[in-house]
Amino acid sequence: MSSRGVFITGTDTDAGKTVASAALVHALRRGGRRVVGMKPVASGCESTPDGWRNADALALQAASDPVPAYALVNPVALRDPTAPQLAARAVGAHVTLPPLLAAYRDLAAMADQVVVEGVGGWLAPLADELDQSALVKALDLPVILVVGLKLGCLNHARLTARAIAADGCRLLGWIGSTVEPGFPPAYLDLVHAALPVPCLGVLPHAPGASAAERAASLLAR
Ligand SMILES: Nc1ncnc2c1ncn2[C@@H]1O[C@H](COP(=O)(O)OP(=O)(O)O)[C@@H](O)[C@H]1O
Ligand SMILES: [Mg+2]
Repeated sequence: MSSRGVFITGTDTDAGKTVASAALVHALRRGGRRVVGMKPVASGCESTPDGWRNADALALQAASDPVPAYALVNPVALRDPTAPQLAARAVGAHVTLPPLLAAYRDLAAMADQVVVEGVGGWLAPLADELDQSALVKALDLPVILVVGLKLGCLNHARLTARAIAADGCRLLGWIGSTVEPGFPPAYLDLVHAALPVPCLGVLPHAPGASAAERAASLLAR
């Protein structure tokens, strides 16, 4: 992976994007590289004395080395655990690209690589009239698709790969995350055959595993 950054999308919400992104940060940190995570727009935050905090962003911040300020990891933190459009409306926020781009540039300046987690699936908007593809294009990021391995993911994976190409973005590879135990190997073979890009690893079903432990399944040397 030569690019400075990569955008992580998924077959759906709960596909394993955060799990895979945090593991990828650790995998990319091998050899002493400085790698940080980012969740540009997050909906679903807890109130803390330091401000709103989102679990995905905290996981990515914790995986990062160096550890960036929270506001850079997650410049837009919206309270309600719903679609970002609705969460923004609830607090009268207007989400636009420039603050997201500025935070990314600051992260890129402190790290060798930046792993950027999107919201939901590829076509989930970041805001009214703001698709994720606009952010991906503005940052010129290649995309990694996290396939949440469960029945139906073949359809979602193929649709997503097509949509990424149709939006003029570049799919770099995919990561499988075994969100449910007992996923049939024969079905996994179909996913391998269906996607036109390399598989960067398959995360086994491991409910209690740490991001560092999961990294062993990614980017096999
Ligand atoms: N490989 C895995 N093994 C066990 N649980 C997983 C795995 N991948 C994801 N999960 C679980 O599935 C849920 C959704 O994962 P998450 O990474 O939060 O998805 P997303 O970021 O796409 O919404 C979480 O509870 C997470 O712990
Ligand atoms: Mg997530």
